[in-house]
Amino acid sequence: MAFVPYDRPVQAAFIGLGRIYDLNVLGYRDNPDVEVVALVDPDPDRLAQRQADWPGAATFASAAELAASGIEVDAAEVLLPVPLHADGVTEMLGWGWHLNLQKPMCNDLLDAQRMLDAAKASGRILRVMENYLFYEPLRRLKAIAESGGVGAVAGYHMKMVGSGSGGWDVPWSSFEWQLGQIRRGRGILVFDDGWHKLSTALWLFGPIKEVRSWIGTTSFGSGIDLDAPTVIAWEHVNGVRGVWDITLAPDLYLRSDYYTNDERWEITGNNGFARVNRCTGRAIQQPSLEHYSDGEMRGYHALDDDWASSFRDSGRHWLRWLHTGSGPLHWSAEEAVDVLRFALAAYASSAAGGIGVNPAQLV
Ligand SMILES: NC(=O)c1ccc[n+]([C@@H]2O[C@H](COP(=O)([O-])OP(=O)(O)OC[C@H]3O[C@@H](n4cnc5c(N)ncnc54)[C@H](O)[C@@H]3O)[C@@H](O)[C@H]2O)c1
Repeated sequence: MAFVPYDRPVQAAFIGLGRIYDLNVLGYRDNPDVEVVALVDPDPDRLAQRQADWPGAATFASAAELAASGIEVDAAEVLLPVPLHADGVTEMLGWGWHLNLQKPMCNDLLDAQRMLDAAKASGRILRVMENYLFYEPLRRLKAIAESGGVGAVAGYHMKMVGSGSGGWDVPWSSFEWQLGQIRRGRGILVFDDGWHKLSTALWLFGPIKEVRSWIGTTSFGSGIDLDAPTVIAWEHVNGVRGVWDITLAPDLYLRSDYYTNDERWEITGNNGFARVNRCTGRAIQQPSLEHYSDGEMRGYHALDDDWASSFRDSGRHWLRWLHTGSGPLHWSAEEAVDVLRFALAAYASSAAGGIGVNPAQLV
């Protein structure tokens, strides 16, 4: 079934109204492309809290109740805990809803295939949103590299420091399902937050032919085993190499309106470099993007570098896409599977002592 773009506001439902709703909602507010018709969450407090944003929306404790209600839903914003993604997505696609799913898509290739098959069978669009691709400093970084601003790209690195001090409150319930993910070998740093970093690598320099990694563990007791120190290195099909180091600094206070991650991306070329200094947190309060070339440093002081804006723009992109049906989805479900393969290759490499693993050859 070919996708037919909408010529009226899309009727949308939010499925899951937890912590990240606060940012995903930004794409929906004051947006004539969409009408929010329903809110779904088993938690009555969350329903009551979010209903204040959408007084006209109907509320339900489950997506199945919404599906049975007779309310027409064109698209759902799926903000469920990751362990519920695969079953939830296949069910909702079966009801004929287009889906904008949060990352990580799912934990393994079997579930990913199940989700792709469900999208195909239903003729509906499954998008796995990647807000980092909408973060203005990263978009500018990509543009600098592609326009030859650093010369021929020699390589790049990403850095992430996880801290436990500062940032917004994350309810314990949001951590509970993450602990289950840790037990399944899908840690918070490499897999959950890491999904974004791996996505930016694929987006910047294309497909990857080899991944090598060394994934460590730091235990904080009670099953809280964080997947750092970690180093992951890879080579793209175009020959560019990337490396990402993850460290923990649990007591490092980090100013952040959101999660406490200190993040950087730096691309080196044969005659310059360009660096994104921060994203989620605000450790380096220099310009969020700096570009050095020919002995001069240019700082970008006026970018929209609030991390929340990347959610707003990703959401708007999706809702506009449903009216045009053309252009990149950022990401399509198939592109999201490439991100999953990248992560799984890192796990396979680390388990085998750091050998090179081709993500395309994983089964
Ligand atoms: N893009 C990002 O940077 C980013 C950041 C944080 C979280 N996320 C992703 O967003 C998703 C949600 O994360 P979160 O931190 O908001 O989690 P959360 O635990 O805070 O919220 C999940 C919500 O889903 C509800 N829920 C549970 N079962 C449900 C069901 N069967 N039907 C409907 N609702 C149900 C819970 O009651 C809760 O309100 C996850 O996929 C996570 O990985 C993405």
